[in-house]
Amino acid sequence: MDINLVIRQMRETDRDQVKQVIDLSFPRLYRFFAAHSLHEEGQVLVAEISRNVVGFAKLIDFHIEDKRYGCILWIAVHPSYRRKRIAASLTNNCVKKFKQEGANAVFASTQRRNIAALSVLDLQGFRRMGFLDLGRLFGWRIFEFYRDIWFAPGEIVLMHD
Ligand SMILES: CC(C)(COP(=O)(O)OP(=O)(O)OC[C@H]1O[C@@H](n2cnc3c(N)ncnc32)[C@H](O)[C@@H]1OP(=O)(O)O)[C@@H](O)C(=O)NCCC(=O)NCCS
Repeated sequence: MDINLVIRQMRETDRDQVKQVIDLSFPRLYRFFAAHSLHEEGQVLVAEISRNVVGFAKLIDFHIEDKRYGCILWIAVHPSYRRKRIAASLTNNCVKKFKQEGANAVFASTQRRNIAALSVLDLQGFRRMGFLDLGRLFGWRIFEFYRDIWFAPGEIVLMHD
């Protein structure tokens, strides 16, 4: 890719540009939750090109029993900058960051019909996890897991381990 892409932590001054990406990327209800999540616990990585923030990923981590896990809660790229592997790069950075911080696995979930998000996650080595797979991993704590990752109806869970 012939663009000067920088992936870094969000700064306070990036907030308006991240909100713009959110407004251009999500339906109304999701916009509200995505914008709200910027103020909540966790980290936000942004993708910057020529001093413009063109994408972001909101990350959270959680524990189940004594194990630590990461989750990519939201990810979006400005419509004018899509299909340039920016989301792929953000995802890759998120996974690396979580693994460096000691996560046992990194999760993401997205709507079944979100071909773009599913393609990005597949490409970055995530695999789909059904209820039985997650049950084997978490036992009866699976419901705690669904709550931790903000699982919504119609979504597929994916894992990178
Ligand atoms: C999902 C999203 C973040 C992808 O961002 P992106 O930067 O365009 O994705 P990338 O360029 O990294 O895509 C990597 C690969 O995934 C696949 N892909 C990406 N978008 C695709 C699409 N719309 N249709 C089919 N495949 C797609 C392609 O294989 C692509 O590689 P290629 O362009 O070389 O063929 C972006 O479409 C977006 O912001 N969508 C709205 C928000 C959203 O749905 N977020 C996910 C749920 S939180």
